[in-house]
Formats: sequence, structure tokens, C-alpha cells
Amino acid sequence: MRGALPNSYHSYTFFLFIVLALFRHVFSTNTLSSTETLTISSNRTIVSPGDVFELGFFKTTTSSRNGDRWYLGIWYKSTSDRAYVWVANRDSPLSKSTGTLKISYANLVLLDHSNTPVWSTNLKRTAKSPVVAELLANGNFVLRDSKRNVRNRFLWQSFDFPVNTLLPEMKIGRNLKTGHKSFLSSWRSPHDPSSGDFAFKLDTQGLPEFYLYRNEFLLFRSGSWDGVRFSGMPTMQKWSYFGVVNNFIENREEVAYSFKVTNQSLHSRFTLTSEGLLQMFQWDSTSLVWNLIWILAYEECDLYQICGPYSYCDMKTSPTCNCIKGFVPKNVTASALGDISHGCVRKSRLNCHGNVFFLVKRMKLPDTSTAIVDNRIGLHECEERCSQNCNCTGFANKDIRNGGSGCVIWTRELRDMRNYGTGGQDLYVKVGLYD
Ligand SMILES: *[C@@H]1O[C@H](CO)[C@@H](O)[C@H](O)[C@H]1NC(C)=O
Ligand SMILES: *[C@@H]1O[C@H](CO)[C@@H](O)[C@H](O)[C@H]1NC(C)=O
Ligand SMILES: *[C@@H]1O[C@H](CO)[C@@H](O)[C@H](O)[C@H]1NC(C)=O
Ligand SMILES: *[C@@H]1O[C@H](CO)[C@@H](O)[C@H](O)[C@H]1NC(C)=O
Repeated sequence: MRGALPNSYHSYTFFLFIVLALFRHVFSTNTLSSTETLTISSNRTIVSPGDVFELGFFKTTTSSRNGDRWYLGIWYKSTSDRAYVWVANRDSPLSKSTGTLKISYANLVLLDHSNTPVWSTNLKRTAKSPVVAELLANGNFVLRDSKRNVRNRFLWQSFDFPVNTLLPEMKIGRNLKTGHKSFLSSWRSPHDPSSGDFAFKLDTQGLPEFYLYRNEFLLFRSGSWDGVRFSGMPTMQKWSYFGVVNNFIENREEVAYSFKVTNQSLHSRFTLTSEGLLQMFQWDSTSLVWNLIWILAYEECDLYQICGPYSYCDMKTSPTCNCIKGFVPKNVTASALGDISHGCVRKSRLNCHGNVFFLVKRMKLPDTSTAIVDNRIGLHECEERCSQNCNCTGFANKDIRNGGSGCVIWTRELRDMRNYGTGGQDLYVKVGLYD
């Protein structure tokens, strides 16, 4: 009898050990070490600190007669209405319900049923010390040196490879040092994460702005960043009601857009849908639904170059295309039929010396891909520079804050303009002295 106590004590501690070991396995941590794997059959997932995001395997509901299609992805763990924010192997799904994520030669690799890699982080340089994969609190899945946990020093990060969703702190734009471009690319359909038709990309030529493409076809231009919002997306300003803070970064290292939330518990995501819509969602923790807090409602006037050169689109006029003062319809026959989509031409030719400027208010500034920018000068010097440059067709402030600053000069025809009831910028268009 005397030996019973230590014995049961031992079995008790052994039992505890087993339970703890099991818990460690069931309640997954936020890392994957080089000795661990994540498989479809184990049902294990990686959960971010704070329990907001979860990384694991999922299959889409459209999986059909061709069998299931499995993807490695990240979704919100804390919202009952599941929203996927990232997919690793969007164009190479696992078809046999067998898949393994592991670390191999300092890379993350996803293997199919025959141990063939279907996706990999594809890093050429192998790390000197062991690496570990970690799902961070903001939803960024990173690969880093397992010994040095330095903030923002990653060998690879999912935030550099967005799918259709921009999360707070994630950037879309261009890294000027590496040349890497991050952009949004839509799903094929609401239930199919494979690459769809739409892409929202930053064009860094001239003054940077975002272009929305349907395949190769340019649909919409965001307009340049005016310090507060993109000039072609004036309603973006309303995001501040929802605790969303916009940020445009332009320095020697990068040109990028990102947003933050003032309250971390406001789950917000900016998405390019499979139908090509730009939407902003926020989780409503009371009614447990994703609230659509903003959508870019494409009006006729938002379509790229719906009106020709030197004309602007106005939703309140009929026809919607209007010539800028000092310009007349290019195609007189069509204009008599109410069609000014061919654009406008000058009433009188520009004389290199002796021109004036017309102010057009509340405008989405013309396409800036060939515009010349000078951040150091203001409106007055900008006008002088435009007067002196015979090729100059118009100018504007770059930034609208504090009464305006910076100078943008156009030297080609002015394209893709619209005006707004509220919002938009002042644009000065060069015209002949007697127009
Ligand atoms: C994983 O989940 C599936 C479906 O819920 C279940 O059938 C299976 O037994 C689970 N596997 C493990 C190892 O828990
Ligand atoms: C953040 O949002 C949550 C949920 O809406 C709310 O309960 C909390 O009070 C907010 N915190 C702050 C600092 O505003
Ligand atoms: C002008 O518009 C008319 C009517 O839309 C069209 O038939 C004609 O081809 C146009 N001319 C030019 C030069 O584009
Ligand atoms: C104006 O345009 C012409 C023709 O494109 C070009 O040769 C010239 O250098 C330009 N001048 C300036 C000041 O940009």
C-alpha cells in the first residue's frame, strides 16, 4: 500500500504530461519550426497571437466532379463569416486531399500527394541559421531566422504577395530597391481563388497612381494622391468615420499605399472582388456580419477615357462629356448628335508666348503617367514654369493640404478627366490669349 502513492503520483504526472503534450498539439501555436509539418489530414492550423487570423488548409465549395481542390490560406479566425485574406497556391490547388507544408532548405514548401512541390517561397539564398515560419498578429505570415527575432527583418513575407485583399499595415505599390511590385489580383469567382480578370496596380511613371485593369484593358484610374486621398476616389475620405487612416508612402525606398485602423479590434479589409469592385469591409461584432462600409461605385464618368482628350465627364450634364473652356468638339458631326467622346481641340492654336490659364474646379486631375512633378515649388512658380514651357498644357498643386503645395505639370494632351460635385482639385489649363 505504501508504494501506491508515489506510483499514482507518477502516473498522475505522466498523465499531465500527455495532456499538456496533446494540448500543445491541438491548440496550435503561431509558428512552424523546421521539424514540424502542417498537413491536410492533421487539421492543424497556425493561429496568430490575439486569435484574429488562422492559417491552414481549406477547400472551396465549388470543388466538384474533378475532386476537391485544397488551398493553403489565411482567414479571419475571429469572425463567424469566414473571409479569406491570403492564398499561397491559388493557381495550383491540391487535388488529392493530401498536402504538407514544411520548411525545406530554408524555404517554405507545399507538397502534394506525390511529394511534388506545388508552391514554395522560392528563396535562392539559403539562410545561415535555421529558419522558422510565424503568423504575426496582423495576419502577415513570415519566414525568419529562428535565432534573431528582429522586427521587420524577414526572409520572406506573405504581405509582399497580396491576393485580393489588403489588410491594415500591408502595402501595395513598388519597392524601388528591389523593383518588387505588390498589387491586388481578383479571385476567378467568389468561390474560386485562382487568378481572376482584375488587377489593381500602381503605375509609378510620372506621378504615381493606381490603375484597375480587366486583363490588359485599362478600366479605371485612381488619380494621383493629393495628400488626403486619390483624386479619382474622393469618397475615400469618409473612411476616417470608420477609424481607417490612409497612408501614401513616397520616398527613395518605396512608393506604396497602405492603411491603418485607429482601434485594433476594428477588423477592416480592402478587397478587389471577382467582379472588379473595390470594396472596404469592417466586421460588425454586434450583428456578426461583414459591413460593406465603402464601395467604389463605378459611374459612367469613372471609366477610363470615356471622354476624349481635353474634355471632362460630368454626371450632371447631358451628354456627360464636356469640352474645357477654350476647346471645341473635335468631331462636329458626332457632337451635333450629342456625342463628344471623340474629345475636343483648341479653338485657337497656342502661341508659345502670351497664353492664359483657365481654372477648372473640383476635377479628377488628368492622367499623370507623363506628368512632371516638383515638390519644392508652389502654385505661383508652377504657373511661371508652365508659361515658359511651350509644351505645357496645364498645371496643378500636387498636395491639397494647407492651402496646396507642390507642382504637377502636363506637357501632353489632357486625358481622362471628370469633375465632382464635391471633392476633386483645381486644374489650370493653358489656352490661347483670345479664347
Ligand atoms: C480532421 O477533420 C475531419 C473532418 O472534420 C475528420 O473527419 C478527421 O477525423 C480529422 N482528423 C484528425 C486527425 O483529427
Ligand atoms: C475598440 O473597439 C471595440 C469594439 O468596437 C470597443 O469595444 C473598444 O472600446 C474600442 N477601443 C477604443 C480604445 O476605442
Ligand atoms: C465623326 O462622328 C461620326 C458620327 O459618330 C462618325 O461617323 C465619323 O467617323 C467621325 N469622324 C471621325 C473623323 O472620327
Ligand atoms: C517640347 O516637345 C517637343 C516635341 O515633342 C520636344 O522636342 C521639346 O524638347 C519639348 N520642349 C520642352 C521644353 O519640353
